[in-house]
Amino acid sequence: MNFSVSDSQDFKQQALVQTLFEQQFQRSAALVCHAPGRVNIIGDHTDYNDGFVLPAAINYGTSIAASKREDRIVKVYAHDCGPQINVFSLDDITFDQKMMWSNYVKGTLQALMKKHPEIKGANLAVTGNVPQGAGLSSSASFEIAILKAFTQLYQLDLNGVNAALIGQQAENDFVGCNCGIMDQLISAMGQQGHAMLLDCKDLSFEDAPIPDDLTLFIVNSNVKRGLVDSAYNLRRHQCETVAKYFGVSALREVTMEQLTAAEEQIEPELFKRARHVVSENARAVATLKALKANDMATISAEMKASHISLRDDFEVTTKEMDGLVDMIDSVLGEQGGVRMTGGGFGGCVVALVPNDLVTKVTDIINSKYEQEFGLSPSIYHCNASQGAFR
Ligand code: GLA
Repeated sequence: MNFSVSDSQDFKQQALVQTLFEQQFQRSAALVCHAPGRVNIIGDHTDYNDGFVLPAAINYGTSIAASKREDRIVKVYAHDCGPQINVFSLDDITFDQKMMWSNYVKGTLQALMKKHPEIKGANLAVTGNVPQGAGLSSSASFEIAILKAFTQLYQLDLNGVNAALIGQQAENDFVGCNCGIMDQLISAMGQQGHAMLLDCKDLSFEDAPIPDDLTLFIVNSNVKRGLVDSAYNLRRHQCETVAKYFGVSALREVTMEQLTAAEEQIEPELFKRARHVVSENARAVATLKALKANDMATISAEMKASHISLRDDFEVTTKEMDGLVDMIDSVLGEQGGVRMTGGGFGGCVVALVPNDLVTKVTDIINSKYEQEFGLSPSIYHCNASQGAFR
């Protein structure tokens, strides 16, 4: 299956959500807003180590139609989850075991109210096209879309970086995933046509154009991800353990020389985890430089090394993701780059593919992946899009 969504389809999604709102609430919405999902080009499992990441926002996202209410009730119609309706009061926010999706709204608003207790309720209709559980940040795009809606409805003084921090807080404190800041920040602050090198230590960032002759090519392995949060949280804990050993706040402060010198003192599995993070930081910075210089051979080598490190040292790939990377690499060689993307344990691989090789790459996946792994792949040709707060 191939998908390609143009910006005009973003507008179609926004028109759809307006209609859905009218059907649910028998009146027009006061506003419609949209926040994108993301793909990470390089720099995985570095954000919560204060490191570097190089993501881009994509033209798949979450759209919300919204109107204010005079009371403190929030009523959410989620078109793609059932559809289902969830109603709660801002004064009584509790975790919902049954409608898991509603916890993203609740957690986000609970975190928002720490800064903006003055907000009142809202009626919301939500629809999105980021594949869920695929490592393309459907949840971050949902959180950022909620924050954009409330920012506009109540004219809050909230910038994109603070919105991202609130979204992350919702995940960490309410949903229970100890994620870093990358997904929310790129969804809020991505720049159309660009990737962003984000320094997760001080949240400074730099945009770099993605050349027009390259396609952001994403393939979902469609491996069902299980126990992702606990495996993710364990990786984070392992990284923190090594940082503690060195007496620093995060692995960002540890050099490869220091790490290598301490190899005998660190448990082998923890050593490998840390080696991934320290080397991945260097790769993200090198890839930005190569992207700016249009040096595809270096981008290709850095992405390849990143995948191997995530496979062997961080151990978050699956055989299906490894298989996809090998297939795509056999066509691209040094003319493009490919690696797993996001948290791992299933989900997507990302490739930077010269436009004239897109058909060849698509053909090899369609002819080999299902045959080898018994799963049908989903292919997305993406553009780098604009963040909700940019
Ligand atoms: C998930 C998290 C991010 C980041 C990536 C791995 O997407 O939400 O914060 O840690 O995994 O790079």
